[in-house]
Amino acid sequence: MPATVIVGAQWGDEGKGKVVDLLAEKSDLVARYQGGNNAGHTIVADSQTYKLHLVPSGILYPGTLCVIGTGTVVDPAALVTEIDGLESRGIVLDGLRLSGSAHLIMPYHVALDGASEMRLGRFSIGTTRRGIGPCYQDKAARIGIRAQDLLDPKILMRKLEIALEMKNEIMERIFGLPRMDAQDIADGLAPMAARLAPFIADTSLLVDQALRDDKNVLLEGAQGTMLDVDHGTYPFVTSSNPIAGAACAGIGIGPTRISRVVGVSKAYTTRVGEGPFPTELDDADGARMLERGNEFGTTTGRQRRCGWIDLVALRYAARLSGFTELALTKLDVLSGFPRVRICDAYRSRDGEILTEFPYHQTVFHGCTPVYRDLEGWDEDISECRGLKHLPVAARTYVETIAAAVEVPITLIGTGQGRHQVIDTVEI
Ligand code: GDP
Ligand code: IMO
Ligand code: MG
Repeated sequence: MPATVIVGAQWGDEGKGKVVDLLAEKSDLVARYQGGNNAGHTIVADSQTYKLHLVPSGILYPGTLCVIGTGTVVDPAALVTEIDGLESRGIVLDGLRLSGSAHLIMPYHVALDGASEMRLGRFSIGTTRRGIGPCYQDKAARIGIRAQDLLDPKILMRKLEIALEMKNEIMERIFGLPRMDAQDIADGLAPMAARLAPFIADTSLLVDQALRDDKNVLLEGAQGTMLDVDHGTYPFVTSSNPIAGAACAGIGIGPTRISRVVGVSKAYTTRVGEGPFPTELDDADGARMLERGNEFGTTTGRQRRCGWIDLVALRYAARLSGFTELALTKLDVLSGFPRVRICDAYRSRDGEILTEFPYHQTVFHGCTPVYRDLEGWDEDISECRGLKHLPVAARTYVETIAAAVEVPITLIGTGQGRHQVIDTVEI
């Protein structure tokens, strides 16, 4: 059975956690392929709220293998805290596996992330300050520390010394930060190494085996297309590739093993952190989305910026990842707007109408949205379970988006709860 990729179609926080949890019910293995604990994936199940950062969103189903893949960056302290937190709530973590080749976020990565943001001042990215960027930098520079190094204290110490030789100079001279000691870091890691060692595995082999055995495999993306380091709104992006193609590299399987790509988009748009956002609203409509959608970050608690749905960006996301279907979340939040707006195109600074996402940042930064207005609906849809029960205006809204993106919408979110969803395929 080929694998399915779940990918954020916007700027993150689209509701990937909920969609993965839903699909995980019928899956045998769920694997994260990139990002780290900058992610915050919320699942509301049986009146309980779970906020996952590193652990894949399949963990609530006992017996499901949950893989933290090679392309992720893992803060060992954050992972141990998350494992402990889940265990204390009665979640069984026997199925958790951590790639031995995943890179580890070290204390100096976190310190450098914060210091670099401070130094950038008004040009800052608004990162989650979890050390994501500096860790991926070290991976590319080949001075990173990997999960497998936890299993060999001598090698770990040697690698920490090599990395710190440069890091300490940078921390002290450029950022005025205190130097760090390799032995102190190694001592701090020792208890975490003991805790994480049973989970460390050859996860590429595991996923390959599951696929050979015809098991259902989900590959869970973090962040979103517009935060992709290559294709997003650079430099206001994360340091990894959330797009579906990166799932292969991040897990260690070939592209021929993937047959289904589910893009996840809100029925409107949010963004947290700095950077351009053409449909952003600074009015009562935006305030209503913020309030009704409870748009506060899962990881940092920051208020999310809100705006209408952007179909130029969504079509771009569909192109970059080859969506075979779309999950449209939080449609319930739009109930009560007298009219809903869809951004069909951008108007560039010199008046040109653009229907394709502009590759040039200067053009993009100067774009304003061209809207198509549709009739709103008043009805509370949070208990709707079938497409035919949706108000006509809500249904028209969904169908207009699917037609414009040229991707079928197979799931519609009608509330936070696990079962607050319309499966359009079942109807
Ligand atoms: P992720 O990072 O993509 O997993 O998304 P987050 O969990 O950070 O943010 C999405 C938020 O929307 C979470 O609080 C979810 O519980 C919530 N959510 C997901 N789907 C729906 C939906 O259809 N309706 C409503 N009202 N909330 C939803
Ligand atoms: P999930 O998986 C929304 C944003 C940050 C910042 C930029 C870079 O929950 O959708 P980083 O710490 O990655 O270097 O920050 O990316 N960002 C997210 N925004 N959802 C996320 O994850 C995000 N992860 C990072 O706010 O603008
Ligand atoms: Mg999130």
